[in-house]
Amino acid sequence: MNKEAEAYKTAYARERAARLEAEQLLDDKSRELFLKNQQLEASNTRLKEQHNALVRNEKLATLGTLSAGVAHEINNPLAFVYSNLGSLNGYIGGYQKLLQMVQCWQADEQLSPQQAEALSQLIEAEDLVFISEDITGLLADSQEGLDRLKDIVQNLRRFAHSQDTDWEDVDVTDGLESTLKILNSQLKNTVTLEKHFAELPMVPGKANELNQTFLNIIVNACHAMKDTERPLLRIETRKEEDEVLVQITDNGCGMDEAVLKSLFDPFFTTKPVGEGTGMGMSITYSIIKNHQGRLKVASKPGVGSRFSIYLPLKRSESANKDTLSDPQDLTEEPV
Ligand SMILES: Nc1ncnc2c1ncn2[C@@H]1O[C@H](COP(=O)(O)OP(=O)(O)OP(=O)(O)O)[C@@H](O)[C@H]1O
Ligand SMILES: [Mg+2]
Repeated sequence: MNKEAEAYKTAYARERAARLEAEQLLDDKSRELFLKNQQLEASNTRLKEQHNALVRNEKLATLGTLSAGVAHEINNPLAFVYSNLGSLNGYIGGYQKLLQMVQCWQADEQLSPQQAEALSQLIEAEDLVFISEDITGLLADSQEGLDRLKDIVQNLRRFAHSQDTDWEDVDVTDGLESTLKILNSQLKNTVTLEKHFAELPMVPGKANELNQTFLNIIVNACHAMKDTERPLLRIETRKEEDEVLVQITDNGCGMDEAVLKSLFDPFFTTKPVGEGTGMGMSITYSIIKNHQGRLKVASKPGVGSRFSIYLPLKRSESANKDTLSDPQDLTEEPV
């Protein structure tokens, strides 16, 4: 009996040891599997991000070439329509004066009855009085349309040429101040402006392009705040390690995920036809990318948006970092 119990005990101990070993093995393998899975997920996310960045860059490069061609094609006819409209504006005054003079002669009865009758018929048949009144407005509208077209062509050209190189030392504070000066009339009396400018080192770049990005972001902020009760625009700058940070925050309508996802796509706009071309943010993106900088966007519908531009203090020969985080990661902490 004792022998039997002893054998049973040994068998039990052996079985227990084997079970524990198997359990430990299972545990180790599961942990290994879990870690592998995590690594796989991380590299999958990285791959997706790189893929998105590649697609984005490819899209922008193609669009750059396309924009340059379109801008060039439109620019020539635009130039002569512009010039002709200017001449037409000058000519039309003379005809209006002529009509007024003829009408005066008619009123003063200085014409023979036949001449007066013929003139009346002509003026009525051709609706000359109405045309003379309407033509000034028509010309002004056409001029406005042409100005808008000129802006679009200029934007397309800027977009296409943002890859050229001739770098200078840029004073970011100066750039922000002069951009704010241009926007003075838009901001004045309506928007409270808070400036928190730190002393900054110069950054390598192109002043006009950087000013363009500040302008694009601030103009968008103003549009977003048009229904805000107390619109507040906060612009902050500071040096952060080897970068200069410019942060532009508004308390406007904010953006939902769908808008955030397409924000930097060329021609994406939520504005009515004729009001926005949807080029502002894609130009901003390509300029920051060209400066080897980074762009972060935080936004919350109904609360506001914050754009953070990071500009490096030194240009690197082999910069390969992504300008934007994946759209899903665009939302930092709420504003
Ligand atoms: N600060 C902001 N707050 C809320 N929405 C914004 C803000 N900035 C941009 N957006 C959204 O992003 C869209 C794209 O902006 P983008 O500047 O590229 O084009 P746009 O302003 O519509 O036209 P434009 O070419 O005239 O600048 C805007 O239509 C708007 O919906
Ligand atoms: Mg815009």
